[in-house]
Amino acid sequence: MIPYSRQTIEQDDIDAVLETLTSDYLTQGPKVEAFEQALANYCGVKYAVAVANGTAALHTAYNAINLSPGDEIITTPMTFVATSNAAVWQGARPVFVDIKKDSGNIDETLVESAITKKTKAIVSVDYAGRPVEYDVIRNIAYRHNLNFISDAAHSFGASYKGKKIGSLADLTTCSFHPVKGITTGEGGAVLTNNYNFYRKMKHFSSHGIDKKVEDGTIHGSWYYQMNTLGLNYRLSDIHAALGLSQLKKIDSFIEKRATLASRYEELLGDVSEIILPPNDTDLSLSAWHLYVIRLRKGGSKKRLKLFEALRAKGIWVQVHYIPVHYHPYYKKKGYVSGLCPVAESWYDSIISIPLYPFLSDEDQDVVVETLKFLVQM
Ligand SMILES: Cc1ncc(COP(=O)(O)O)c(C=O)c1O
Repeated sequence: MIPYSRQTIEQDDIDAVLETLTSDYLTQGPKVEAFEQALANYCGVKYAVAVANGTAALHTAYNAINLSPGDEIITTPMTFVATSNAAVWQGARPVFVDIKKDSGNIDETLVESAITKKTKAIVSVDYAGRPVEYDVIRNIAYRHNLNFISDAAHSFGASYKGKKIGSLADLTTCSFHPVKGITTGEGGAVLTNNYNFYRKMKHFSSHGIDKKVEDGTIHGSWYYQMNTLGLNYRLSDIHAALGLSQLKKIDSFIEKRATLASRYEELLGDVSEIILPPNDTDLSLSAWHLYVIRLRKGGSKKRLKLFEALRAKGIWVQVHYIPVHYHPYYKKKGYVSGLCPVAESWYDSIISIPLYPFLSDEDQDVVVETLKFLVQM
């Protein structure tokens, strides 16, 4: 079976985890701090808060901006449900804006007209690893006094106009799930240059507890204070040790993914039945998290047939994503089909084919030949 994605775990990753397992700290120890520092350095931001997963990262970021009942966020329907779910947990309403046909990213030209008095944030997603139009979205956010949050679950290590993802929005969330750019098993982080957001997120992700006593009273060294309501969203030192080891390899992982993407381009470029994802440009370097092809014709029926046929041949393709507003939970909240026509027709035509750093040329050739044969059916 050739999966659509998988983690790359090598001996140095195993050694790093083993070292932590036999150390004094399994959690709340030095590896978490070191991982946060390394993440911030790599992305060129002042602060990183490591958390339990990418969903916790989104919830922590939404809490940092005080997202509350009655508020709206503007976001894309072409994402994993976590992007909007975490906003719903804060009591806010997601407003879905359609995507662009070429990249699957939110259509920045439609964002401004979706802003209302209730809008609190614009939340973009770098679909499949390709950066959104950060400059345009940031300008809109700043002109309307909105927070700009980037869900960069797909794009850790990507860059836009020479800057790493993480430094381009007010808050950037990451996921370190095994299929993502680097993994900690489960894990995530929020990146920011804003000290107030940083402090708030550190507290929120650890029960709202602060060791610093606000009123200057002298207490014993056991003392801590809970000033705000929080959760336990902490990442453990075991996970952080794996993250530190993985982080050293992010650039080489992306290089391998990009090479495989170019190879797909070379081998599939002349297959008229499919449309390939956009290439890197001087301004935008993808993290190549997913390789999403689109069927030119045939719609959902043809996609289903091809999907099942590929899986029957051991090629474990996937579909990213079912538009969020299609899910029964969101339908019950009043979201209807037809809301985002581009995303909806995009959904009918997409298949994610295998792409991960150690996909061998031989396996990639099997994918290419099988796809070329089956797509003619
Ligand atoms: C775009 C996007 N946002 C958020 C998440 C949530 O991340 P996690 O699975 O680490 O909670 C994912 C995970 O698939 C994702 O793809």
